[in-house]
Amino acid sequence: MKSLSLVFYSLLVCFISGVAAEKGAKFEKYGVKKYFYACNYELMLAATFCKKGRDYACMCTNENYLATFAGCLAYKNRNSTSVTNRMVEQCMEYGNVTIEEDWSSEYYKYYLDHAKYATEIEGFNKSIPVDVPIKLKEAEMDLFQRSYNQFLGNYDDSLYYGASALGYWLLIMLIGATSNWIKVMFPGLVKKCTSGPVNWWRKHVSMPATFGKKRAQEQGLFKFFDFLIPSRFESVVIFMFYVVIIILCAINTEYIEGDPVFDSKYESTMRYAADRTGIVATIMMPLIFLFAGRNNFLQWLTGWNYNTFMTYHRHTARVMFMLVVIHAVCFSILLSSRYASDMKETYLIWGTIATVAGGIIWVQAMLFFRRRWYEIFLFIHIVMAVLWVAGAWVHVDELGYIEFVYPTVAVWCVDRLVRIGRLIVFGFPKAEVTLLANETLRVVVPKPSYWKSVPGGHAFIHFIKPTYFWQSHPFTFVDSPDNSHIILYCKVKGGLTHSLYRKLVNNPGQTATIRVGVEGPYGESTPAKYADTAVFIAGGNGIPGIYSEIMDIARRVTCETKKKLKLIWVIREYKSLEWFAEELEILKNTTIETTIYVTKPECNGGIANYLDMKEEEEGFKQEDGSKNSKLEGEVSTTSITSKYSHITFTEGRPCVKHIVDKEVQESNGSVAFVTCGHPVMVDEVRYYACENINNSEKKRVDFFEQVQVWS
Ligand SMILES: Cc1cc2nc3c(=O)[nH]c(=O)nc-3n(C[C@H](O)[C@H](O)[C@H](O)COP(=O)(O)OP(=O)(O)OC[C@H]3O[C@@H](n4cnc5c(N)ncnc54)[C@H](O)[C@@H]3O)c2cc1C
Ligand SMILES: NC(=O)c1ccc[n+]([C@@H]2O[C@H](COP(=O)([O-])OP(=O)(O)OC[C@H]3O[C@@H](n4cnc5c(N)ncnc54)[C@H](OP(=O)(O)O)[C@@H]3O)[C@@H](O)[C@H]2O)c1
Ligand SMILES: *[C@@H]1O[C@H](CO)[C@@H](O)[C@H](O)[C@H]1NC(C)=O
Ligand SMILES: *[C@@H]1O[C@H](CO)[C@@H](O)[C@H](O)[C@H]1NC(C)=O
Ligand SMILES: *[C@@H]1O[C@H](CO)[C@@H](O)[C@H](O)[C@H]1NC(C)=O
Ligand SMILES: *[C@@H]1O[C@H](CO)[C@@H](O)[C@H](O)[C@H]1NC(C)=O
Ligand SMILES: *[C@@H]1O[C@H](CO)[C@@H](O)[C@H](O)[C@H]1NC(C)=O
Ligand SMILES: *[C@@H]1O[C@H](CO)[C@@H](O)[C@H](O)[C@H]1NC(C)=O
Ligand SMILES: *[C@@H]1O[C@H](CO)[C@@H](O)[C@H](O)[C@H]1NC(C)=O
Repeated sequence: MKSLSLVFYSLLVCFISGVAAEKGAKFEKYGVKKYFYACNYELMLAATFCKKGRDYACMCTNENYLATFAGCLAYKNRNSTSVTNRMVEQCMEYGNVTIEEDWSSEYYKYYLDHAKYATEIEGFNKSIPVDVPIKLKEAEMDLFQRSYNQFLGNYDDSLYYGASALGYWLLIMLIGATSNWIKVMFPGLVKKCTSGPVNWWRKHVSMPATFGKKRAQEQGLFKFFDFLIPSRFESVVIFMFYVVIIILCAINTEYIEGDPVFDSKYESTMRYAADRTGIVATIMMPLIFLFAGRNNFLQWLTGWNYNTFMTYHRHTARVMFMLVVIHAVCFSILLSSRYASDMKETYLIWGTIATVAGGIIWVQAMLFFRRRWYEIFLFIHIVMAVLWVAGAWVHVDELGYIEFVYPTVAVWCVDRLVRIGRLIVFGFPKAEVTLLANETLRVVVPKPSYWKSVPGGHAFIHFIKPTYFWQSHPFTFVDSPDNSHIILYCKVKGGLTHSLYRKLVNNPGQTATIRVGVEGPYGESTPAKYADTAVFIAGGNGIPGIYSEIMDIARRVTCETKKKLKLIWVIREYKSLEWFAEELEILKNTTIETTIYVTKPECNGGIANYLDMKEEEEGFKQEDGSKNSKLEGEVSTTSITSKYSHITFTEGRPCVKHIVDKEVQESNGSVAFVTCGHPVMVDEVRYYACENINNSEKKRVDFFEQVQVWS
């Protein structure tokens, strides 16, 4: 699958470069043509050459006009062919007049022979056509040139500033890729990396949450304004991006004293800001769409998960939107005198549509809405993003920046194509869905033999039913022992899973066969496999991914390698054992040390009730209904512990700090913690792993989270 997506990406790159090459001719920077526009504007203000004012059909045949222009361009040698050719184009475009390519040398001679300063012409009047070429004052020409260097130069520079914003992310991705691939290629070296600066960086930057413990868990703010705080490294990256953007938008916008183009410093600053923000935002666009895609090759490159890219997607998109708002506000103020008539232009209508769509996204993508109505959020988000792209397309098409909209569309389309491709590759098999312990859906999906699952990875599943076939939900999975199926364990929640629950709860055997589409596998397994002690901590339904990854490692461990593998599973009630029984059984044959914490053993009648249920299922429930639950409880505990003799059972909530400290102490080398489950628990594991980085024995401590919280 990985190679398949890489092939798609190569195609994408080819497509983009093809488009760029083909359209490259269209997109031009001002470059030295700034000289042409400076003279063009100066001549317009300096004198009149034709009766009808700016009548190119006349001016392009008027020797005084052309000679004056040639003279202006000859000043400081600004008359290179690319500059003088602009005149040829302009005369054709606006005047339908063909002039010769080397018009300038010819008219320059005429200029030298005949030109006069305006002051030398008797009765000179700006609005009466002149009959000789005009000599312009050098200081004036310098001023116009400086003014145009700033005004048009801003368009050219903004391309570099936009590219710098992309360059910033390239740098970040390189840092990510380096640290990712070093771990994979030199695991032995990395294990020994516990020197002062490395530990400092890991303890204070790369591992912890930004403040305190909260990363997977949301930060509450009056319920409605709840939000997620990125990890500290992500926060630093985002903060520096804000700084970079502010610098890129603020530099090089000085006012030229006496600027002939702008009436005031206020106006010029406004215009520079408007152009700059618009261009930088447009250039950023492809990256934002790339971050949002599920098939983003940067994930593979950096080893950062989708969640991290989602975080970056949200923040870069907000920056892009703010830039567009500044762009729109500045131009609205600048054009306020002719606002009504300008707003009738197609490109402004679509620009406005895009901005409004962006504003809607900004509000509707709040965590509050994502949490409660994920599918509605997603639908509106996609519709508005389409409007955003369409609006941007029309808006910049005329302005000459369409080159940055093509890759945006390409990135999005390729992601969708790869997603459809993955669904088709998997086929649409019939899955067996069973409700277990009234809390979990087990989905057993036959998988094609060529479909390789990723230990610790996840897949998105569609249940093909008229009311929800379009929903795709992420779930981690385990392979069946014979490797012919994948098995998902989905906790019953309020949306799709609840619909399935209602469908199954009254079915005989609480089971049904449903056709499904599976899109995946996504994600990577963590580098925990290189650690001397790998501790996997799962909470509730977080177990499948954790299990498949630890089993994958266990299968490769030979007796000689003294690798310690520990699995800790925290569940609320004994009945949860029921749905994972088969997998727990298999652990018997491995070297994995398993501990299961049952936090609310007394719930639902506790262990006695659980065994009752099992008996009922197995069909040998005794006639005698009266029982002493306390006594039976004890008997059952023994029977459970004998059934799972390879597993240690503990009742009560585990103390994460205690577990982490103990594992670090006991390890004979490096320790890696991998965790998935309740966000609070995951955050605690991160926090205490981080606390242990500076342990006195200089053991390397790593933390990897499998949980992803983007909604
Ligand atoms: C990478 C990953 C792996 C996961 N693996 C498992 C697993 O193995 N077992 C398990 O029980 N759960 C897993 N989950 C959680 C699971 O995706 C959600 O519980 C499920 O989508 C909820 O469906 P629902 O419509 O019933 O939820 P709702 O009650 O509608 O929503 C419950 C929560 O799930 C979030 N959610 C809903 N739909 C989606 C979606 N399409 N994509 C992302 N989030 C969504 C909502 O924001 C909300 O916070 C995983 C999530 C992720 C991101
Ligand atoms: N990659 C992913 O993103 C991914 C993968 C799989 C699953 N999930 C999601 O992860 C969630 C986990 O499953 P769940 O809902 O079944 O879990 P849960 O019921 O919320 O909690 C499972 C157990 O963890 C214990 N626990 C909670 N906080 C703890 C803490 N700070 N320290 C120690 N123990 C703690 C709970 O104890 P108490 O009873 O004392 O609260 C409970 O026994 C689900 O929502 C699932 O959808 C995500
Ligand atoms: C341009 O000029 C040519 C003759 O020089 C004429 O045939 C043609 O119709 C003109 N085109 C337009 C659009 O005016
Ligand atoms: C360009 O300007 C220089 C003087 O600065 C002049 O010598 C030269 O002939 C001009 N060339 C053209 C093509 O106008
Ligand atoms: C220039 O000419 C116009 C009419 O062509 C006249 O109204 C104006 O007063 C003249 N300006 C000067 C300074 O002579
Ligand atoms: C099953 O769970 C639902 C809530 O998820 C609850 O309302 C119902 O009573 C439970 N049924 C049994 C038999 O425990
Ligand atoms: C454990 O391994 C033995 C032989 O290696 C095998 O017979 C047995 O079925 C295995 N048990 C499980 C639960 O996989
Ligand atoms: C550490 O090494 C000692 C002795 O070599 C061994 O008894 C112990 O089990 C090892 N601990 C771990 C966690 O590997
Ligand atoms: C690790 O750092 C913490 C403070 O961040 C300190 O309290 C603790 O003593 C340090 N541990 C060791 C072993 O140096």
